[in-house]
Amino acid sequence: MLYQSKIAGLGYYVPENVVTNEDLSKLMDTNDEWITERTGIKERRHIKEGDGNSTAIMGVKAAKIALERANIDKDDIDLIVFATLSPDYYFPGCGVQVQEMLDIKTCPALDVRNQCSGFIYGLSVADQFIKTGMYKNVLLIGSENHSGGLDMTTRGRGVSVIFGDGAGAAVLTRSNHNGQGILSTHLHSEGKHALELALKGPSTMHWVPELIEENPQEDIPYFPYMNGQYVFKNAVKRFSEVIIEGLQENGLEVADIDMLIPHQANLRISQFIQQKFKLKDEQVFNNIQKYGNTTAASIPIALTEAWEQGKIKDGDKIVLAAFGSGFTWASAVINW
Ligand SMILES: CC(C)(COP(=O)(O)OP(=O)(O)OC[C@H]1O[C@@H](n2cnc3c(N)ncnc32)[C@H](O)[C@@H]1OP(=O)(O)O)[C@@H](O)C(=O)NCCC(=O)NCCS
Repeated sequence: MLYQSKIAGLGYYVPENVVTNEDLSKLMDTNDEWITERTGIKERRHIKEGDGNSTAIMGVKAAKIALERANIDKDDIDLIVFATLSPDYYFPGCGVQVQEMLDIKTCPALDVRNQCSGFIYGLSVADQFIKTGMYKNVLLIGSENHSGGLDMTTRGRGVSVIFGDGAGAAVLTRSNHNGQGILSTHLHSEGKHALELALKGPSTMHWVPELIEENPQEDIPYFPYMNGQYVFKNAVKRFSEVIIEGLQENGLEVADIDMLIPHQANLRISQFIQQKFKLKDEQVFNNIQKYGNTTAASIPIALTEAWEQGKIKDGDKIVLAAFGSGFTWASAVINW
């Protein structure tokens, strides 16, 4: 017999330090008009030196809120799934740090490395474990510390203005009510595009001393590279496909969507999808204007805010969709 999983609690945390487009224009040759027009972003949060945050620590802050709202004791968590592209350490992953910081006995912890699709990939992992009955409660976290690794000079402006820091968390549990919960998840990848949106070093192929020696100043590959227009074109195609795939699997129409929560990649991408599917404003949730693109954290932060604002109600059909580095893309359909 297969069980069904549902989201029992949500939480998010963003650092207090607000970085506006105006603030960025003091560090690099950019301006509010360019950033707003191209991305919709007005401000983002960046960890500030001394504020005590890290990817794992922000994840824990979000997780504590989600656990409290789920009314599930930390010791009843059977598995931690942590999605991030910006872990505190090269290894071990952030999942084990969360296990330690939350003082959860010796439960398994695994990290998911699927960038902007990381939260939905993680949701799928959690869902499968709950479905089979192996685990009852799973803590899923998406968290990113982008600001620690961005090129904040004019050289990096095409990438650095887009990304922000933050964390979101969801507690998944076995659903008691027939039909309430995750209906399906849909995951894809196409590795031939891997280097169109990538951070090459440091890595086992591009180690730090070698990098410094080979690239004294220019073209340092330990800052992220993004082929912006190429990413944009692929994103709108794959977002559309994977949303349709999720709807079809469940016999739903676009009109049945109560809320689409797209990964907050770029407001222009979300608007393109909204127009393509002729969705009303109240059917799509966006908060990239305030937080930028927080990669694996963007969907849980947006989902939490939408829920906090009363925009998600029992029985609603919620669609999550993401696209990002890999390329990877994914969707999830939830009967709330
Ligand atoms: C990144 C993105 C906003 C860039 O917009 P674009 O219209 O493609 O802009 P381009 O990269 O062609 O650059 C246009 C010009 O603006 C300049 N520019 C780049 N970043 C800038 C910035 N922050 N401020 C001011 N000018 C900037 C470029 O140098 C270029 O100047 P040039 O014409 O003199 O060479 C856009 O491609 C995009 O949104 N891509 C998708 C990104 C995304 O969603 N990533 C996350 C995926 S999960």
